[in-house]
Amino acid sequence: MKKLFLALILCASLSAFEYGSKGGFPALNKDSGLVFLNNAATTQKPREVIDSLVDYYENYNGCLSRGNVVVCKNPMASYENSRIVVADFINASSEEIVFVRGATEGINFIAHSWAHNIEKDDEIVISALEHNANYLPWKNLCEVKGAKLHVIPLKDGHVDIGAYKNMITSKTKLIAISKISNATGTYLPVKEIIAFAKEKDIPVLVDVSQAIPYEKIDVKIMNPDFLVFSGHKMFSPEGIGVVYIKAERREELTPYMYGGGMDINLFEAGTPSAADAYGLQTAIKFYQDNIDYSKLQKHLARLCSRLIDGLEQIEGVTIYGDKEELKSKGHLVSFSAGDKDPFAIGRYLRMLGFVVRVGTHCSDLSRESFGYNDTIRVSFHCYNNAEDVDRLVNLLKRVCNV
Ligand SMILES: Cc1ncc(COP(=O)(O)O)c(C=O)c1O
Repeated sequence: MKKLFLALILCASLSAFEYGSKGGFPALNKDSGLVFLNNAATTQKPREVIDSLVDYYENYNGCLSRGNVVVCKNPMASYENSRIVVADFINASSEEIVFVRGATEGINFIAHSWAHNIEKDDEIVISALEHNANYLPWKNLCEVKGAKLHVIPLKDGHVDIGAYKNMITSKTKLIAISKISNATGTYLPVKEIIAFAKEKDIPVLVDVSQAIPYEKIDVKIMNPDFLVFSGHKMFSPEGIGVVYIKAERREELTPYMYGGGMDINLFEAGTPSAADAYGLQTAIKFYQDNIDYSKLQKHLARLCSRLIDGLEQIEGVTIYGDKEELKSKGHLVSFSAGDKDPFAIGRYLRMLGFVVRVGTHCSDLSRESFGYNDTIRVSFHCYNNAEDVDRLVNLLKRVCNV
């Protein structure tokens, strides 16, 4: 009975959140009228997260020695509590969580700390949809070790699972893939990739930077060996990211950095970003209090659908990625506009307050696979709405039809 009552309260508070409303995100409520459509790069911050940084620096800062709780609150306890909150969020245990600055540092950390497991002629497998953060560290490691980097090709815009299976040999030592592409919004068949790797006892690293802001990630269900993400793409401050290391794999890693604090966490030498971890903890609470993933996904997919329908009315536009997939569960749309300069379009939009991303989106492999130079990427989060899309499409029609 008590559980039912709590569940009803939770449902009532979740349903109160208004998808598409910019209230509660101070950067979106200024006279400048910012229309922020670059959420795959970073998200705007809710008032609670901004306030948490002030709270941290007013009430926790400078008491790292743990004892001085009379003068201020205990920052180490807050930092370790952030670890517990993150662990609960992805259904891990707190010993499996290492704080880093972001996904890039997280992948470099694993590539460095796990490097001694790689020998000459060994093989590492990644996909053709990876961000450079999940490509260049492995490329570099392979070059240093004389190992081979294999890239799973695409078939009809998706990772070719047959080619992946054929690529795995007795020399394959690691598979590193993302869950959703940051360049085209394409989903990767992570479940199948991990299941096949497990049959061969090959560890898998999953970069969930583009997934965790939009869907529930549960490491017990997904079953990766390593998992990384950045906080700033999910409402947290910059400067904090997470590496999950499955307990059974921890012994395989050597420290990445050496210095003070290693007695507390072997992989976190130096002064930690405790304030940002506190911000991440607050961002997670914001998700738990407000965001229903299924409603969020529907909201974002509707925006993608509306945008794709609008773009298809503009001559010369090419949309990259699987349109049907984006319309059903996407959060971003990447496109080019014929011979129109995408950077000039980006600048025009920016002048009118619309922030989109133009370029290769730090994914050299996607650019090669899809054969584009630069694209315009529009990416949404909960505060975007149909009006943002309609206004953007009208501006694009104006600038593309001249
Ligand atoms: C899929 C993916 N992986 C890694 C990164 C790198 O994240 P960060 O720059 O926060 O380290 C990004 C950033 O765009 C991303 O989208």
